This record gives sequence, C-alpha cells and structure tokens, in this order.
Amino acid sequence: MDYKISQQKPVEAITDALLIPVFKKEGIENLPLPKRLRTLIAEIAYASGDFDGKKQEVYTIPITGAVPKARRIVLIGLGEREKYDLSALRNAMAATAKSLKKYAVESIALLTRAALLPARNWNRFAQTVVEGFELGSYKFDLYKSKEDEEEEKKKELKSIFFLRVPPQRNTEVEDGVQTGKVLSEATSYTRNLCNQPPNVVNPEKLAEEAEALSANLELDCEIIEQSEMEKMGMNALLGVAKGSKQPPKLIVLKYFRGTRDEKPIALVGKGVTFDSGGISLKPGKNMDEMKYDMSGGAVVLGTMMAIAMLKLPINIVGVVPAVENLPDGNATKPGDILRAMSGKTIEVLNTDAEGRLILADALTYVQKEYKPEIIVDLATLTGAVVVALGNAAAGLMGNNEELKKELQKAGQACGERLWPLPLYDEYKEQIKSDIADIKNIGGGPAGVTVGGAFLSHFIAECAWAHIDIAGVAWTTKDTPLAPKGATGFGVRLLGEWLKNRMAQKK
Ligand code: BES
Ligand code: ZN
Ligand code: ZN
Repeated sequence: MDYKISQQKPVEAITDALLIPVFKKEGIENLPLPKRLRTLIAEIAYASGDFDGKKQEVYTIPITGAVPKARRIVLIGLGEREKYDLSALRNAMAATAKSLKKYAVESIALLTRAALLPARNWNRFAQTVVEGFELGSYKFDLYKSKEDEEEEKKKELKSIFFLRVPPQRNTEVEDGVQTGKVLSEATSYTRNLCNQPPNVVNPEKLAEEAEALSANLELDCEIIEQSEMEKMGMNALLGVAKGSKQPPKLIVLKYFRGTRDEKPIALVGKGVTFDSGGISLKPGKNMDEMKYDMSGGAVVLGTMMAIAMLKLPINIVGVVPAVENLPDGNATKPGDILRAMSGKTIEVLNTDAEGRLILADALTYVQKEYKPEIIVDLATLTGAVVVALGNAAAGLMGNNEELKKELQKAGQACGERLWPLPLYDEYKEQIKSDIADIKNIGGGPAGVTVGGAFLSHFIAECAWAHIDIAGVAWTTKDTPLAPKGATGFGVRLLGEWLKNRMAQKK
C-alpha cells in the first residue's frame, strides 16, 4: 500500500472513499467541511441514529452528487475523546480497512486534524494509521486455493492520502509512514511464520528464513549445527531435540551498525517449531496450536528484519534455538539429567518444560560469544502466564528494574502490553533438585515465575528481561488488529523499545 500526503481539499479529493474519523457524541460540527456537506452527513448518519462514533464503528455513505468528489464518505468512530489513545486510533483504522474490503476501493483519503493526534505528534499519528491499515488487512491464505484471485485483486486498496497535513509536518508524516510500514511488514512476516503448519516451519525452515533475511538485508547469519552444539556441550538444547528426526539449529543473526566499542543487545527467542510435550505428552485437544511455540523465535527474526530495514545505528545479535519437541524412542525421559553448556546439571522432570532447556543453552552461548550489555528473551514458555494475565498482556520478569521499565513503557506506547512479575528467591528455591543442580519444573504454583527463575540460573552478570508471550502470541478469536491465529506480538514492542533507546542516546 502507498501512503502519500495530498494538498487537496477534502471535498475536492477524487477518491473512492473520504474517511472522516469522529469522536463519540461530538458530531461533525467543528470539522473542516463545507456546511452543506455537514448537514448531509448529520441527516443521513446522525439524525437516523445509525451512527454515533462508537469505537471501531464504520459507517459508509455513498455519494452520487458532484460535491464531494469522493464516491463515498466513511465515518469512523473513535469512541470517547477522553479514552482516545494510539491503540484506539490503530484499532479504528484496522476496522476501517476490514469494512472497506466489501467495496471496490482502490484509493482513499483520510481527513486529518490536530485532535486526532493522541501523542500530539504527526510522526506517531502516521505510523499508527499505517499499522492499523496494514495489520487490520492481514490475512493468512497461503494454503487456500486461489479461485477468485482476479476478483480479489479488483478490490485491493492501493493508495491512502493524508489530507490537511500542515506543510511543516510533511517530513514527520513521511517518517512515521516508513516506520509504520516496516513494523507492520515485520509483524506480518512473524505472523506468517507462526501461522504456517509445523510440517513446513521446522527448525531447518527457520534457519533458511534467517539466511534469506541475511541475503536480502544487511544482516549476517550463522547457523550452528548439531555437531557443533555437541562440541560446545549444549546438552540441554540437544536433549530436547533428541526426540525428533529433525536436527536442531541454533540461528544467529548479527546486525552491527552501532559504534565499535558498544556491546550488543541480544534478543533470544524460543523456537520450538512443534511442542507435543515429548514423553510428557500433551493432551490431544488443541495440540495443533503448539505450532506457535516458535513465536519467540519468529519475533526475533521479524525484529531483526525491521531493525535492518530501519537501519538503526545499533549493535544487535538475535539468537533462536530451533527444535521440535517430540516423543521418539530416543527422546529425553522424565528423570534424565542433562549437563547444560554452562556446566549446570538439570534434572528433567517434565519433558514438556522444554523451552527453558533450549533457552538455557542459547543464553549461555550468547553471553559467552557476544558479551551483550542487555539480553531480552521472548518465549511462549508457560501455560501459567495465560492463567495469570490472559491475552491482555505478556508477563515481564528480569534482573534489572530500569530495563523492565523501559520495556513496559514501550509496550504501553505501542499497545503490546507487558505486566511485571517478581523473581523472588523462593522461586529459585523451588527448582533446586535433590540429585542435580536444578530441575526443570517447580512442581508447585507460580508457574510463570518459576519459568523465569529457571532462566535466571543461566544469566551471569548481564541486564536481562524475560517476556513470556504464551498468552499474547496467539488469538483464538478475531481481534481488531489480528485475525484468529498468530498476532506477531513483540515485533512492534521491540521496535519501539530500540527506537526509544536510539532517541535517548542522541
Ligand atoms: N509451550 C508450552 C507453553 C504454552 C502453553 C504455550 C500454552 C502456549 C500456550 C511449554 O513448553 C509448556 O508446555 N509448559 C508447561 C510447563 C510445565 C510442564 C511446568 C506448561 O505450561 O504446562
Ligand atoms: Zn512444552
Ligand atoms: Zn513449549
């Protein structure tokens, strides 16, 4: 989709749809439109009681006369002004994109005004509009036979014009558009990886994807194969992979565009391309959903893609341990003890708590090889985080308050919320094993933080945050921004966080 600024007057814009966002109960009295047009809208939409500006309400009025020149007027509800924020704007734009699908709309024009800028910032406004349109139009149809392709194409939206942007704000709008496009593309890329079936997206495919990214963007890719993992003593990771015929891959993507002396930030993502539970087999119901157990890894790939496209001046290394967790004759059994790369021994009491095992070695590896300043890991680690926070926020843990605050702030701003959970010593106690250093389950309550506490055993002296995305990486119902399936949660969050860090440095 193309986003441009247009100097045309709203009534003169030759477009398939003139979009007019409005707040609830405020009507259209103060909008920069000719009186005749306002009266027309008031009579058709408001007096009839058909429309009042509720959030995500979209109301289309076909136009046949000469004024305005648009073929349709589309009123977009933003809800109450007091509650209006970037998420409300993004969701409203997403609802509009969906609603316009039923018409043959190729170009649309959006009537902007200062009141629509929640952050008082044109850059942010433009970014959010783009994210709403792009993510709201996302669909996953790679595996649907395309019968009506021609028909579909006809309806495709091609250009969006921003009307009434103050000329001195043009560059801000253009920058915002660019950021919004990159973050949406990277989010959709991540969604596509998670939505694809597990017979396609296996560890090898994830590694190929990383290589493809490095071929197209300024990223370096290194794939660490099983034999090397063996040499390095990554027995926790290998222990999970053992139950599958698919060999594990440790994917490393490098982006070094910061200064030479600057230690990198490490992003680590759980890449279990299918989690059957292993010998501690999961129940059959909804087991198919466990294809999204590589969401953390897909977010790392998507974020690396976004960073490289935005050309941020930063040093980043992305690490994805990719494995399948299956119950083969050779699989790790409950009771087995594995010696992790760090030297710690782990008693595996439940083979379904596999994410922490692969992350343990990935965390050790990245610290040893890259001495990062900060590590952020993302993982669909526990069912317990879904119990604690549902689908409304991801669980945030870590060893550094400032880092957690930065991440939480970024999440609040972009609508991918994080909620902090503690890592008390008691949780670390819970995973002490009788016969090994630690065990991979606590056996008691507080499953989310026990998962976090386990990972903390593999962090040496680095600032670290762990984000449990099990509840937010997937949606079982259509939401304004994502249809059923993968959400890509985390790409916009990390993009926002890293951009904020860049801005602070300046
Ligand atoms: N991949 C799951 C966690 C998960 C659950 C992700 C639901 C998405 C939705 C993870 O590997 C797992 O199975 N965790 C266990 C841990 C338990 C055995 C300590 C869990 O949450 O039940
Ligand atoms: Zn599991
Ligand atoms: Zn898992």
